[in-house]
Amino acid sequence: MQKLLLKNIKTLVQVREDSPLKISGKDMKILPCIDNAWLACENGLIADFGSMDDFPGITDWKDLEVIDCSNKLVLPCYADSHTHIVYAGNRVGEFVDRINGLSYEEIANRGGGILNSAELLNKTSEDELYEQALVRFKEVIHLGTGAIEIKSGYGLSVDSELKMLRVIKRLKDLNWIPVKATFLGAHAIPKAFKENKQGYINLIINEMLPLILKEGLADYIDVFCEEGYFSAEETKIILQAGVKHGLIPKIHAEQLSHSNGIKTGVECKAISVDHLEFCSDADIELLKNSNTMPTILPGAVFFLNLLFPPVRKMIDSGLPVALASDYNPGSSPSGNMSFLLSMACVQHKLTPEEAINAATINSAYAMHLSDQVGSITIGKRANFFITKEINNYAFIPYSFVNNVIEEVYINGNRFNG
Ligand code: NIG
Ligand code: FE
Repeated sequence: MQKLLLKNIKTLVQVREDSPLKISGKDMKILPCIDNAWLACENGLIADFGSMDDFPGITDWKDLEVIDCSNKLVLPCYADSHTHIVYAGNRVGEFVDRINGLSYEEIANRGGGILNSAELLNKTSEDELYEQALVRFKEVIHLGTGAIEIKSGYGLSVDSELKMLRVIKRLKDLNWIPVKATFLGAHAIPKAFKENKQGYINLIINEMLPLILKEGLADYIDVFCEEGYFSAEETKIILQAGVKHGLIPKIHAEQLSHSNGIKTGVECKAISVDHLEFCSDADIELLKNSNTMPTILPGAVFFLNLLFPPVRKMIDSGLPVALASDYNPGSSPSGNMSFLLSMACVQHKLTPEEAINAATINSAYAMHLSDQVGSITIGKRANFFITKEINNYAFIPYSFVNNVIEEVYINGNRFNG
């Protein structure tokens, strides 16, 4: 297999000899780097790295591709631990409705929102859905994402939830970047069960979960724990049923109101609780005694004009925080992780170091991948990106929306999918 050597790297960022699984509190301000560095990859993995001052002589040039990275930075790819990139069409009409005064909740209450996407997805064939999702999958990899979690949740029926999960499996089976699949049948109450929520919960537990287990279609189970969707009690029952079927919990928690989602997530040993706009001081205490990763989704905060989650307070009280895109048609129609770094810095007052730690190692932790991706560490996957000529890593969030990524490498190969 091709060997790869990157030399004269202006700064090699997020270098960890022994990579921790997650980074918490004050340590999030530390982002280890090597200036004027080299990086070697072999068999799709990071083989070695160091300073150009100690560059070892090369004896075997056979099959060695050398890239000169003068004035450019190299970073490990982002890990995006919360997305909904499998969906049909878009909801641009609702975007305009919101500008004209309707709220996200009002749109949902009149049958729009998630139910709108579900209706469209029901009418879309698996192949067509795959083609639409593939475009987004390639797009986010070109934007620097090197590991991703993808949720179902726009099916809301046995057939359509399975259809979504099979599309996620097809993306996983491309073997480009690591993909984790999350079953989010409890994303909304479908129209057919409007007056019978318990009936839908029974369908999730008794029909969907056994089929998902049988086909091995999911790694995680998620619930939208929110007023008008699923209560904390219902969330717990659904998550526990998921655990019985071999799935690990995640939760959409405290997004539009204080829903007790964090408490439920900690009790159910969720790997992450995501959103957190209404996270309370008591929730922060609960999280401190857990292995659950608090995950912020600034794209949804920006797009829906939501409250800011108390991220500074979380980090200052010693918690880790992860950053993900929530790429979906309703609340965050973008998966540009570099822009999420900008929002984390500008809106939530994370330092660039904290934001990069949140978007790499910590978001990898939120999908059990921090032993494989998220840092420049020998033996981890060679999933990294080379920037254009820029001053330093703070330039990435500074230069918001401008794409500073020149090339993305996945498993040691330039990504050109
Ligand atoms: O994470 N909050 C719930 N689910 C998605 C939005 C879904 C949608 O509007 O389509 C989210 O923001
Ligand atoms: Fe989401």
